[in-house]
Parts: sequence; C-alpha cells; structure tokens
Amino acid sequence: MMVKGGGNVRFTKILFMLVLIAFLGLFLHNLIQAAGPPDVTFTAKTQGDVTFKHSVHLEKKLVCKDCHLGIFKMKKGGSGVTMDAINKGEFCGKCHNGQKAFATTDCAKCHKK
Ligand code: HEC
Ligand code: HEC
Ligand code: HEC
Repeated sequence: MMVKGGGNVRFTKILFMLVLIAFLGLFLHNLIQAAGPPDVTFTAKTQGDVTFKHSVHLEKKLVCKDCHLGIFKMKKGGSGVTMDAINKGEFCGKCHNGQKAFATTDCAKCHKK
C-alpha cells in the first residue's frame, strides 16, 4: 500500500516535470521564432550601406527556401554578393529586376547614406 502510493506520487512528479519542460521549450521556441532572422548589413563605401531586412521580405510572403540555400547561404557575408552580379540578375537581382520587386536602378532604396 505504502510502496504503491509512493510510486504514484513519484510518477506524478516526473510527469509534472516533463510537462513543465515541454511548455518551457515551446515558450522559448516561440520567443526565438518571433525575433526572426537578423538584419544583414552590407558595407558599401561609395554608395552607402545596404541593410537587408528579413522582416520586410517575410512580410511579403516569401519563405526561407525562396532564398536559402539556392540564392544565399545562411551566413552573413557567405554568398559573395557583388553589385556586378546583382546587375546581372543574380542574388538580390533575381527579384529586384523591376518585375518581382523594384529594379536595381532605384539605388537609394537599397543604399542608405
Ligand atoms: C528574400 C531572401 C531571403 C529570405 C526569404 C530569407 N533570407 Fe535569410 N538571408 C538572406 C540574405 C541576403 C542573407 C545574407 C547572406 C550573405 O550575407 O551572404 C541571409 C542570411 C541569413 C542568416 C545568417 C545571418 C547572419 O547574421 O549570419 C540566417 C540565420 C538566415 N538568413 C535565416 C533565414 C530564415 C530562417 C529564413 C526564413 C524564415 C530566411 N533566412 C529567409 C536572404 C533571405
Ligand atoms: C526572392 C525575391 C527577393 C530577393 C532575392 C531579394 N528581395 Fe528585396 N524585396 C523583395 C520583394 C518582393 C520586396 C517588396 C516589393 C518591393 O518593394 O518592390 C522587397 C523589398 C526590398 C526592400 C524595400 C524595403 C522597404 O524599405 O520597404 C529592400 C531595401 C530590399 N528588398 C533589399 C534587398 C536586398 C539588399 C537583397 C539582396 C541582399 C534583396 N532585397 C533580395 C524580394 C526579394
Ligand atoms: C536591391 C538592392 C540594391 C540596389 C537597388 C542597388 N544596389 Fe548597389 N549594392 C547592393 C548590395 C547588397 C551591395 C553590397 C555588395 C558588396 O558587398 O559589395 C551593393 C554594392 C554596391 C557597390 C560596391 C560598394 C561601394 O559602394 O563601393 C556599388 C558601387 C553599388 N552597389 C552601386 C549601386 C548603384 C549605382 C545603384 C543604382 C544604379 C545600386 N547600387 C543599386 C544592393 C543594391
């Protein structure tokens, strides 16, 4: 009787701990998700820096795999982005071509002094 009761109490405690851990995990996961991937700033000497904002792009219903890993590596500075390549329709230029998004002729929309 005593042993059975003690076992049940311990089982309940363990179950409670597991549920607590699961909830904490979910909470932290949501917190990280809400923060979203970070902005990435490209330093550009003559034209002014370019800040790529994930938030703006995700609001336009784009999803990770629209850009990763086909167009961009998931690492700041990892993809070797250059203005020449963008003008040739690579990297940002895959969308910023005046059709899917504003064209590369609109310098000041990307380059901020
Ligand atoms: C419109 C294109 C686009 C979309 C969509 C996109 N990313 Fe990115 N992501 C980029 C670019 C550009 C970089 C910078 C790459 C570079 O510097 O070479 C980047 C970099 C990253 C980095 C590295 C940041 C750092 O500081 O090193 C992470 C992590 C990342 N993205 C996660 C995500 C996740 C997760 C999603 C989906 C929720 C996502 N990205 C959607 C374009 C995109
Ligand atoms: C997969 C398509 C895609 C790629 C790749 C992409 N963009 Fe965009 N971007 C969009 C769309 C769509 C919009 C919103 C429509 C518009 O503003 O023309 C946008 C909007 C923007 C804006 C306007 C933000 C604002 O202030 O409203 C900037 C700046 C920008 N992108 C920079 C970049 C840079 C820099 C890169 C490359 C590192 C890049 N984008 C790559 C699709 C893309
Ligand atoms: C869609 C966003 C976007 C637009 C629009 C854009 N650029 Fe860029 N540009 C970039 C990014 C991102 C880089 C950073 C690549 C690197 O690290 O060199 C860059 C780099 C450069 C560089 C090399 C760095 C420097 O400043 O010396 C020059 C020059 C340049 N851009 C000129 C222009 C001019 C001129 C225009 C307009 C005709 C323009 N860009 C429009 C995204 C853009």
